[in-house]
Amino acid sequence: MADEEKQKYEAFQTPKGVHDILPVVHEFHTFVKKVVRHRARQSGYRRISTPIFEYTEVFKRSIGDSSDIVSKEMYTFKDRKGRSLTLKPEGTAGVARSYIEKGMNQLPQPVLLYYFEPHFRYDRPQKGRYRQFWQFGFEVIGESDPALDAQVIQLADRINEDLGIKDILSLQLNTIGSSESRQKYMQALQDYYVGKERSLCESCKGRLDTNPLRLLDCKAEDCKILAELAPAMKDYLDKESLDYHEELKSYLDELGITYEENPKLVRGLDYYSKTVFEFWDKEEGAQNAIGGGGRYDGLIELMGGQPTPAVGYAAGVERIIANMRRIKIRVPSKDSLHVFVAQLGKEAKKKCLPLIKNLHDAGLKTMGALGKGSINVQLRLAHKFGAPYTVLIGITEVREGTAIIRDMEKGQQETVSMENVVYRLVELIGKDNLDRYSPGELLYS
Ligand code: HAM
Repeated sequence: MADEEKQKYEAFQTPKGVHDILPVVHEFHTFVKKVVRHRARQSGYRRISTPIFEYTEVFKRSIGDSSDIVSKEMYTFKDRKGRSLTLKPEGTAGVARSYIEKGMNQLPQPVLLYYFEPHFRYDRPQKGRYRQFWQFGFEVIGESDPALDAQVIQLADRINEDLGIKDILSLQLNTIGSSESRQKYMQALQDYYVGKERSLCESCKGRLDTNPLRLLDCKAEDCKILAELAPAMKDYLDKESLDYHEELKSYLDELGITYEENPKLVRGLDYYSKTVFEFWDKEEGAQNAIGGGGRYDGLIELMGGQPTPAVGYAAGVERIIANMRRIKIRVPSKDSLHVFVAQLGKEAKKKCLPLIKNLHDAGLKTMGALGKGSINVQLRLAHKFGAPYTVLIGITEVREGTAIIRDMEKGQQETVSMENVVYRLVELIGKDNLDRYSPGELLYS
């Protein structure tokens, strides 16, 4: 293919690292969203959506200049007035900005918020790593207590259980202490690496000055060996953080939640203090964490609010779904049809339209072939759409005020009067199988 032609062709494909969510995958998305919503509501969380883009400073200030996200993964652009905007790479910064901007400190504390949103990172696309991906997350803002950290972890753990993936995951837990004690530790790390720079990978060489903590969780072989021998973080942490951590662990024990203490877990975002945790796929380890979170007591103040402690968690929806599908978990499909309506002739079509509406009102998932194909073509279509029953209306049925109901599996059919079609189909499908979801009644004040 000529270059020019190839370019045109490629212009109609999704850009690298992003993908369509096709109907089969949407069934999983819907299921995950329902589980998240249910568990969030049960615990008193309310949903928030922050904008897809914010001023770049919101992310730079919170996630940190030296983090991978800010230094190389943000989609940043200028608007027509030259202001720098960024597509949100994660959810916490926007929620913190909203907490401050909307004066949520006036609400009863802590404020419990959850989200289910697309996020954007210019990551190197590979398995489980995309440039647009969905996260759900929880933020508890306004109070500091290890019991709250335990509750957030328990909520995440409970959702993993609801989704059938709890057993294939391990909970990694660590504390990174207060920011002052962490500064001391980072200095100790920098001292330790003096003279060893040549053995570090290129990324770690760059991070040594700006973010030495990240050297601890580098995946390169030589960096891993050096990290093993590095000074231990717990020897530098303040007593308050260590006590806090012990208390958190005692609550997790009480809840029966098993965890692995991982002194090398530091997370890739700068805003954390004290508790950090991640859920890892037991087989793949750190490579494809399905979710992570921690305490971020300094963030709201750093962004211009009052000093306000907070803790939260977010998980990657694509990675969760990939794991569910890998271990062959299926989710209930609500998309399957009950009834297919086939017709022949203009007069029959007139009867079909109100019939389909009445079938919908009765809770029967129905579609009609309202084109001009022969009855045989329409029956073949009905088979392809997989509806267990087809209603056939032709010229004779219109004249006699009847319709034919065909059982597609058995190939048997019966003729019923037009008034009885809905009633008979409800009987055949079964009252318990109807799709009568109602969003709730409207209230008028
Ligand atoms: P994070 O660890 O950067 O934390 O992201 C959370 C999850 O999002 C990851 O564990 C992963 O499953 C998913 N994820 C991240 N990047 C990608 C990607 N490129 N493709 C697919 N999935 C991805 C945060 O974002 C924090 N805001 C979590 C938090 C909330 N901390 C406190 N509150």
